[in-house]
Amino acid sequence: MNWKAFPQDFLFGAATSSFQIEGATDVDGRSASIWDQFCLEEGRIADGSDGRRACEHYLRYRDDVALMKRLNLQAYRFSLAWPRVMPRGTGPINEKGITFYERLVDELLGAGIEPWVTLYHWDLPAVLGERGGWLNRDITQHFAEYTEKMVARLGDRVKHWITHNEPWCIATLGYRKGEHAPGLKDPRSGWIAAHHVLLSHGLAMQAIRSARSDLQAGIVLNLTPGYAASDSLPDQEALRRFDGGFNRWYLDPVFKGSLPSDMIAEVEEECGGALDFVHSGDLSLMRQDMDFLGINYYSRGILRGAEDAAGQKPPQVILDPVDLTDMGWEVAPQGLTDLLLLVQNEYQPKALYITENGAAYDEAPDASGRIRDDRRIRYLKKHAAAMLEALEQGVNLKGYFQWSLLDNFEWAYGYQKRFGMVWVDYETQERTPKDSAYWYRDLIQQRIIP
Ligand code: FCB
Repeated sequence: MNWKAFPQDFLFGAATSSFQIEGATDVDGRSASIWDQFCLEEGRIADGSDGRRACEHYLRYRDDVALMKRLNLQAYRFSLAWPRVMPRGTGPINEKGITFYERLVDELLGAGIEPWVTLYHWDLPAVLGERGGWLNRDITQHFAEYTEKMVARLGDRVKHWITHNEPWCIATLGYRKGEHAPGLKDPRSGWIAAHHVLLSHGLAMQAIRSARSDLQAGIVLNLTPGYAASDSLPDQEALRRFDGGFNRWYLDPVFKGSLPSDMIAEVEEECGGALDFVHSGDLSLMRQDMDFLGINYYSRGILRGAEDAAGQKPPQVILDPVDLTDMGWEVAPQGLTDLLLLVQNEYQPKALYITENGAAYDEAPDASGRIRDDRRIRYLKKHAAAMLEALEQGVNLKGYFQWSLLDNFEWAYGYQKRFGMVWVDYETQERTPKDSAYWYRDLIQQRIIP
């Protein structure tokens, strides 16, 4: 097999999420999400912005789908805003809210673009946040109910379903480090949230399966391959801990129905006691037969464990500061190949998709209005080559979604980081494809790296 080219059935798309692009946060019966509240808190968002307007995708979705078609996209991954479709978190569906997604899906299908739905990309209804959010075990049932209702409404047309986007971020950034909504800074809360997110994944998978038999379903994990800075024992130990907390704590439950045993003592220590929030039967519920695993890949982690001469512990993840994106993330395409091989060999998912990959770079329109984002093209080329390498080595990789279709609200960074293949002028809402969008269009057409 010649893997210089992507197979004809390899799926190329782009991804977004509801809160990052939709705007229209207080129309047609949508209730507040924990992100609306978080944005109101002083100092939470770097540029003091919020999601009220964002990319106005709620108003402009038809044009956006037409743009996707012009760019040859074969699939579009987006998320449903739970507070838009079920404003009380549980109970009745908001017809106006669901109608928006029905129209979006119909528009996509009409354009020949496969809709991929993420059920949870972080905009939890504030009413559920007030009841403890992901710390309250009841939420797992609410999430299953929400899933069941969404599949009942959209499952005739949407064939690809993702339960959660990036459980590590939900738990760690939201409940442990306080960088994301709801902004808690408590280690034990972080582990509890992670547990409930994974448990709700299991229940949602069951809800999807019992509703219809013709759906493809799975979860999206943000995985970062770790490398020890040296062979020294402390560096190796730092690597084990990083990989255990970042990757295996999520992969093992959903694929093996178990927790990584080497991590349990440290997690108990952080939690100040036994993991009493893990009930018997939970782990086997988390392990459901998935049709695919989605991986969001941005960078790698280099781990160092030894103390320096001053007795200071260096940060766990040190980045090689040679080639960084505007996020400060190292460009590390080899990490993608390594990660795909590792996941394939260790967990044997039925299929793998890269559900997010991309880079923030700030190239703006030049005098002629053109956006020469050569750095993004370079980034994308390298990661496309890394995928071809993985395919050559036998990885069952079926598709790739670029993050992101549009410049958008980048969470705690606000609008300062631009991940889009399409430039958004936030004043006029004008969209301008960057050079990289045309490059991607040609890749999709030609199947070889332009
Ligand atoms: C991922 C998120 C996505 C976006 C990218 C840059 O962690 O899933 O919403 O913010 O990072």
